[in-house]
Amino acid sequence: METRAWRLRLLPLLLLFCGGCARVCCCNETGMLERLPRCGKAFATMMRKVDVWKWCNLSEFMVYYERFTNCTEVETIIVGCYWPNPLAQSFITGIHRQFFSNCTRNRGHWEDPPDEVLIPLIAVPVLLTVVMAGLVVWRSRRTDRLL
Ligand SMILES: *[C@@H]1O[C@H](CO)[C@@H](O)[C@H](O)[C@H]1NC(C)=O
Ligand SMILES: *[C@@H]1O[C@H](CO)[C@@H](O)[C@H](O)[C@H]1NC(C)=O
Ligand SMILES: *[C@@H]1O[C@H](CO)[C@@H](O)[C@H](O)[C@H]1NC(C)=O
Ligand SMILES: *[C@@H]1O[C@H](CO)[C@@H](O)[C@H](O)[C@H]1NC(C)=O
Repeated sequence: METRAWRLRLLPLLLLFCGGCARVCCCNETGMLERLPRCGKAFATMMRKVDVWKWCNLSEFMVYYERFTNCTEVETIIVGCYWPNPLAQSFITGIHRQFFSNCTRNRGHWEDPPDEVLIPLIAVPVLLTVVMAGLVVWRSRRTDRLL
C-alpha cells in the first residue's frame, strides 16, 4: 500500500523530468519535425527581403527573428512537446548556421549569445521544471502528514 502510494507520487516527477528530453506521452516528434521547417521557410522568405550584407545585424531583422522563434514555440506546443527541447534547439541551430555562419567570423555585429550561453539558458527552465515537480511531491507528502 505504502509503496504504491509512493510510486503514484513519483509519477508526475518522472513525466516532467522526461519533458526535458521531449519524450512526454503526447509529444509527437514526427509532427514537430514536419512543422518546424515551415517556420524556417517563412523566415527564409523574410530574410530574402533583407540585404545580405545586413544579415549579421540582428536589429535589421529582429522582428522576423522573433516571429521565427515564436513560430517554433507555437508549432512545438501544438504537437504536445515542451519548448524549448533538444530537437527544436538543433533545428534552430541549423537555421543559425544557414544564415549566420559568416557572422561569427567577424563578430561585433552579431549580438545573439553563442551556444555556450544559449545552452544554460535552455537548461535552466528544464531544471526549474524538475525542481517544481520535486516541490509537488514534497507538498503532497506534507499534506499527508497534516491529515
Ligand atoms: C504525429 O504526426 C504525424 C505527422 O503530422 C502524424 O502522421 C501522426 O499521426 C502523428 N502521431 C500521433 C500519435 O498523433
Ligand atoms: C544595425 O542596424 C541598425 C538599424 O538599422 C542601425 O541603427 C545600426 O547602426 C546597425 N549596426 C551596424 C553595426 O551596422
Ligand atoms: C506568438 O504568436 C502568436 C500567434 O501569432 C501570438 O498569439 C503570441 O502572442 C505570440 N507570442 C509572442 C511571445 O510574441
Ligand atoms: C558565407 O561566405 C561564403 C564564402 O564567401 C559564401 O559562399 C556563402 O554563401 C556565405 N554564406 C552566407 C550564409 O552568407
